[in-house]
Amino acid sequence: MVTDKIKRKAAANPEKPPLYSEGLYPNPKKLIAQDTIDINKLKGLVGKSILSIDQFDKDMVLEICKFAALLETTTIAESHPLDGKIIITAFFEPSTRTRLSFESAVLRLDGKIISIPEGQATGVAKGESLSDIGEMFNAYGDLVVVRHTETTAVDELLHNLRLPLINAGNGSGEHPTQAMADWFAILKWKPRLKQDVIAPEDRIHLGILGTPGSMRAVNSFLRLSLLFKAGIRRISIVSDLADPLGPELEESLNRSGIRYDITNDINTVLSDMDVVYMNSIAFLGDSYKTLDSRFKLDAGSNLKEDAVVLHPLARLDELDPTLDGTHHNLYFTQAHGAVFIRQALLISVLNRFDRIPPATPGIVKS
Ligand code: CP
Repeated sequence: MVTDKIKRKAAANPEKPPLYSEGLYPNPKKLIAQDTIDINKLKGLVGKSILSIDQFDKDMVLEICKFAALLETTTIAESHPLDGKIIITAFFEPSTRTRLSFESAVLRLDGKIISIPEGQATGVAKGESLSDIGEMFNAYGDLVVVRHTETTAVDELLHNLRLPLINAGNGSGEHPTQAMADWFAILKWKPRLKQDVIAPEDRIHLGILGTPGSMRAVNSFLRLSLLFKAGIRRISIVSDLADPLGPELEESLNRSGIRYDITNDINTVLSDMDVVYMNSIAFLGDSYKTLDSRFKLDAGSNLKEDAVVLHPLARLDELDPTLDGTHHNLYFTQAHGAVFIRQALLISVLNRFDRIPPATPGIVKS
């Protein structure tokens, strides 16, 4: 049956390799066309930990996304940018995409990986503290990527850690590199959203089906979206909770000046949304729960003709596979593009700009 599906896809579009995933794949070159990538700006990340979206301004996120687009469309990887570097991926909570996309990013740039696929494989199983584990990491690698069920885990590791750390999801806290992958997909879809001045008719209605205050990917996505406020005419948050934001996010939204509304009735807003971001896995303390899963989308949903759907995945039944084969599906691009966002961040934090071939078009070094 799988073979039949591949054959059907190949026949429908002979230009595309048949193993290409379904959905919308905007050309990354549109994001960097007639634009340059400012390495000097990216050098601001050298040696830095990436903990929260609040560390970033719009210009830095744009440079990261443009650099990712360059990595996606050129052969910079062939010049071994991470040769000699060891990345520790320390995952104290399950992950499909984040751990594997970080590890793929490293290996494709010729770096090396040592990996903790689950916390029980470490001294945690015997009662060892995270701050002691952080001290050990100093001797074993050059950068640490961490995922943990506890929001406080990153701070505990940082207590003794002297290497840069990338937060790959801390409990109900943040998931900053996911948010960059999300906006990388959106900017490839509509590159004009990178501009500082955007005509009212080109601004988007951003919908969030989920609870930012309890979902780290949604939290980071919303924080990052506020940096691109010039292109947003309205934000609608569709949640089962009466207060899905919490005081800090609410204040950030109020400060942004973007018009926003909160509802528990998807039917009042869905048909006007240009971008729909959804999720149903939330954290309560240090354990998962399902939230907002009654807000479901499928191929028959009342979506705008050119609306796109994003989802950090894993999905439950809120996102029906019948949407996979439609032009609304930006979520596979979102997941695939994460490799290049993570490559851009690793090269920047580890200061491997000298490995980029000097003749690479679009690169500005000073
Ligand atoms: N998007 C995301 O964080 O997925 P994983 O939990 O599979 O890493």
